[in-house]
Amino acid sequence: MGVDFQRPVTVALTGASGAQYGLRLIDALVAADHEVWVMISKAAHLVIETETTAELPARPARLAEALAQRSGARHGQVRCFGREEWMAPVASGSGAPSSMVICPCSTGTLSAVATGASNNLIERAADVALKERRQLILVPRETPLSAIHLEHMLSLSRLGAVILPAAPGFYHQPRSVDDLVDFIVARILNQLGIHHRLMPRWGE
Ligand SMILES: Cc1cc2nc3c(=O)[nH]c(=O)nc-3n(C[C@H](O)[C@H](O)[C@H](O)COP(=O)(O)O)c2cc1C
Repeated sequence: MGVDFQRPVTVALTGASGAQYGLRLIDALVAADHEVWVMISKAAHLVIETETTAELPARPARLAEALAQRSGARHGQVRCFGREEWMAPVASGSGAPSSMVICPCSTGTLSAVATGASNNLIERAADVALKERRQLILVPRETPLSAIHLEHMLSLSRLGAVILPAAPGFYHQPRSVDDLVDFIVARILNQLGIHHRLMPRWGE
């Protein structure tokens, strides 16, 4: 008998600072029983090494095992795809999930998505999400922002993508880095319509 998970969500980690956001998002989606389809860029692996203690192999099959282990996923719940795995379901409108999150999103990937470059599977999957009018959430992190970054964000927002900067608020009086990470992950889950208890909603 097959295992039934909640609908799959694509999560791509690219080489902006804030790898913790993407890793925590994967954990939260697993905890909410969603299938999670993951892509991690080469630069993102370097950022993960620099910013976290997570040890994540590059090869997709081993990466899926490592991510599943750290998030406590069930068998088959986490799938990973390689940089040029063009036969992966995310590469086509007929196979891609209804939602994709790029978290964190580098300005390089932001630019590639805004211009339709599709030079790797992350960029192609985002291009598919846009052409199919599916949900695409980008979590950019850079400061200050140049006019190039701002123009790309505006173009993507006009195409229906959600620009959700990795800019946590402080009105919940965070006591730890985890609290700040959860602030952003909670906002992403709200956009996805996925119930969570990471932090109370405004007014609760
Ligand atoms: C430790 C580290 C931190 C970085 N932080 C950022 C960042 O916050 N924002 C950004 O746009 N690029 C950042 N970069 C640069 C990107 O990783 C680089 O432009 C890369 O080409 C992005 O490739 P990708 O979009 O394929 O992941 C960082 C790189 C490293 C090694």
